[in-house]
Amino acid sequence: MKEEGLAAAKILAVLQRSLKDDMTFTSGRIMGSMCTEPTRFARLLYSKYLERNLGDPGLFPATARLESEAIVSAGELLNHPNAHGSIVSGGTEANIMALWSARNETKIEKPEAIVPASVHHSFNKAADMLGIKLISVPTDERGRVQASRVKAAITANTVMIAGIAGTTELGAIDPINELSEIAASHEIHLHIDASFGGFVIPFLNDLGYPAEDFDFKLSGVSSIAIDPHKMGMAPVPAGMILFREVEMLERIDIKASYLAGGEYSKVSILGTRPGAAAIVVWATMQMLGKQGYRKIVRKCMSLTNLLYENALKMENIQPVQEPMLNILGLKTLHESPQEVSDKLRERGWAVSTFPRHLRVCVMPHLRKRHILEFSSELERLDQKEELIVKPISKIRYSLL
Ligand SMILES: Cc1ncc(COP(=O)(O)O)c(C=O)c1O
Repeated sequence: MKEEGLAAAKILAVLQRSLKDDMTFTSGRIMGSMCTEPTRFARLLYSKYLERNLGDPGLFPATARLESEAIVSAGELLNHPNAHGSIVSGGTEANIMALWSARNETKIEKPEAIVPASVHHSFNKAADMLGIKLISVPTDERGRVQASRVKAAITANTVMIAGIAGTTELGAIDPINELSEIAASHEIHLHIDASFGGFVIPFLNDLGYPAEDFDFKLSGVSSIAIDPHKMGMAPVPAGMILFREVEMLERIDIKASYLAGGEYSKVSILGTRPGAAAIVVWATMQMLGKQGYRKIVRKCMSLTNLLYENALKMENIQPVQEPMLNILGLKTLHESPQEVSDKLRERGWAVSTFPRHLRVCVMPHLRKRHILEFSSELERLDQKEELIVKPISKIRYSLL
């Protein structure tokens, strides 16, 4: 840090120069992120309520009330208006809190959690922090966990079963109804990671897409992670953890007695946390309503299917499978996903890269013209000689 500070105008000029390498959602070139462009309303509210701190909710009881109301709204969406929970920083924190609560529910010395092989790496973080062993269960050819293998993996040490409603890799939805029956009959905490799918799946049936029950409607489901900062249209950072029963939240409630606002129970891992994020989540849900979210899901699903249809016509780049959500996996038949991803990045496109495929998240910031431009770019790559004539030994990863 320099001794003397700089003038605001100078700082702005430096920022303008140094941040120009960042990509923007408005460019339509971010194809691999699960986040999206904040609305103008969200930008306005965020700056207006910047000083609210939910780490000391007694000072900001009105903000804390809005947080509770937002949890009720999410609970209504997920078929349990009496859910108890918190607005957190994202899916990672929500998953950690769920595992924390499940672990504390029992006195098991060597706790284990059964997770699908497709689980997000936040579970690995959580398990490492909490001293829980993860038991990974394989998925089927559509990327859904095999429920019979989950059942077989249960031991006296199992504290949690996790199911995913929208996997990170492919947007696959696990057979949650089967997991719910297994969890209920063994009285084990079932946590659903709907960080991505939570704001999408509730609208699919209305729009004519198939979707099975995945939420609190199923009696075996104990907790759900759902992220407003993904398909919930709220700015980063905003996740949510919802528990079926208040005791599940109380198990991880560590109170601070020194706060200026007095002791006030709001459960989270963080201490100081952004009240503006909670206000904006509340406001975004109020503003959009179910109708608004349904409209967004309709657009995203229709663009995902457009991209899927376009990719089906290609030779060397092919969809991994028909999309279940607005996430499309693309396998690359003659080059590794990383090589194709690098070429796309050179041409200005950012997709996500997995060992066996590329992933595109068709988020609300993408428009039809972006999907058409991206399809053309893929076609150009698809037809490039370099993609078709590579010797077989150059293939680094096996195909799905
Ligand atoms: C299924 C799933 N769960 C959890 C997370 C973690 O969310 P966050 O990055 O908001 O912590 C992600 C992120 O991609 C995800 O895809």
